[in-house]
Amino acid sequence: MSLELSVVVLAAGMGTRMKSALPKVMHKVAGKPMVNHVIDTAAKLNAGKTMIVVGPDMPKLVEAVSPHPTFEQTDRLGTAHAVLAAKEGLSGLSGNVLVLYADSPLFTAETLERLVAARESGDHAVAVLGFRPDDPTGYGRLVTDGADGELVAIVEDKECNAQQRDIDFCNSGVMCFRAKDMIATLEAIDNANAKGEYYLTDAVAVARAKGHSCAAIEVDEEETLGVNSRVQLAVAEAIMQDRLRDAAMVDGATLIDPASVFLSSDTKLGRDVIVEPNVVFGPGVVVGDNTVIKAFSHLESCHVGEGADIGPYARLRPGAVIGAGAKVGNFVEIKKAILEDGAKVNHLSYIGDARVGAKANIGAGTITCNYDGFRKQHTDIGKGAFIGSNSSLVAPVEIGDGAIVGAGSTITGKVAADALTLTRAERVEKAGWAAKFREKMRALTGKK
Ligand code: UD1
Ligand code: MG
Repeated sequence: MSLELSVVVLAAGMGTRMKSALPKVMHKVAGKPMVNHVIDTAAKLNAGKTMIVVGPDMPKLVEAVSPHPTFEQTDRLGTAHAVLAAKEGLSGLSGNVLVLYADSPLFTAETLERLVAARESGDHAVAVLGFRPDDPTGYGRLVTDGADGELVAIVEDKECNAQQRDIDFCNSGVMCFRAKDMIATLEAIDNANAKGEYYLTDAVAVARAKGHSCAAIEVDEEETLGVNSRVQLAVAEAIMQDRLRDAAMVDGATLIDPASVFLSSDTKLGRDVIVEPNVVFGPGVVVGDNTVIKAFSHLESCHVGEGADIGPYARLRPGAVIGAGAKVGNFVEIKKAILEDGAKVNHLSYIGDARVGAKANIGAGTITCNYDGFRKQHTDIGKGAFIGSNSSLVAPVEIGDGAIVGAGSTITGKVAADALTLTRAERVEKAGWAAKFREKMRALTGKK
């Protein structure tokens, strides 16, 4: 279906109940600001133009939604007033205009598409997404005409008479407008009501008065969740996590204990990936097919190649690129480093600002000393090299292909290919010294 569509996202509220210096809609769900969830969902419908209505002095929000145009609503005079802040961007549009709230990140593209299709199929002036909450208090009620279910009006909670208050069909906030008469409809809305606000919801009565039709369709309550507090943010997060886990499994990854795996909205897991319990995927992670991510690993902005073996207790930080069949074992941290195919860093290491050549073996406790307090320096380890346990590679370091570094070494500079290099204090052994020492100390202290 090809629907001509533009989108207005309302994001002007600061969200005082969040008790935050950050605008509410910048708070993240599954690693992505709520406002970007809403924009990305609209993008799935091939929305042509997406406009964001922001409040005054929200530079971070303007940046987060870039390159989409923003329109500032200086005074908060109601939802219709908010949409009209984008009037300049709305003029001359045809097709559909969808109005979305940036603090409601759970609507799916399928639901929005259903609403747009409903508006278009009946050529309605307005189509509204309704739901039936357990407790309708606070929501606008959808007044429908019994005969054909046509939407007659939306009555805000504060304006309801006793009979209207009993209606359980409510406005989720998502509305789709016929673009060509939208501005005229919104400009006919007044603020003669209990809150003295310009209610977007009055668009229905205005359109009806002009002889146009309106419609409402229904959606599951879960999708309509609006976030006003950090408690609700956690509820949205839990719902989103469940969706992401299900999607990962549908796409062919095994999550042994899904509830303990945290994903980001952009996490990409390949086929036959096995994720053990208690793994966290921060933003920007791509995992190739047939890999195992073992328990208690933490990954962010990194790439894991096919058949790699990660963890348990591994930490892959931004810029880690793990080659096919490579191994990153327990208590290993990798940052901005490439492990080429088949390389192994199995135990207790820090590898940062480095390249580890194919099939190289990095011994337990090896540290790349990449930072001197001022600069980050690079470590280059050749193919098939062997770094003995407990070595410090003080960058800049270059270890040639096939070279061996003896255990416990501190290495700087260049090591030739296939060479052995080690730095080790000369060994001293004094026969019987320990026994004599103990004898002397016992005599001195009287301890047995
Ligand atoms: C609104 C709807 C109501 C619906 C409910 C669903 C109206 C008049 N009412 O009510 O029918 O059931 O949402 O949650 O639309 N905003 C601005 N500028 C403003 C006012 C609001 O940007 O001047 C933004 C808010 O930040 C928020 C959204 O619009 O994201 C909705 O505003 P809110 O005040 O929460 O409306 P409700 O009273 O909840
Ligand atoms: Mg609200």
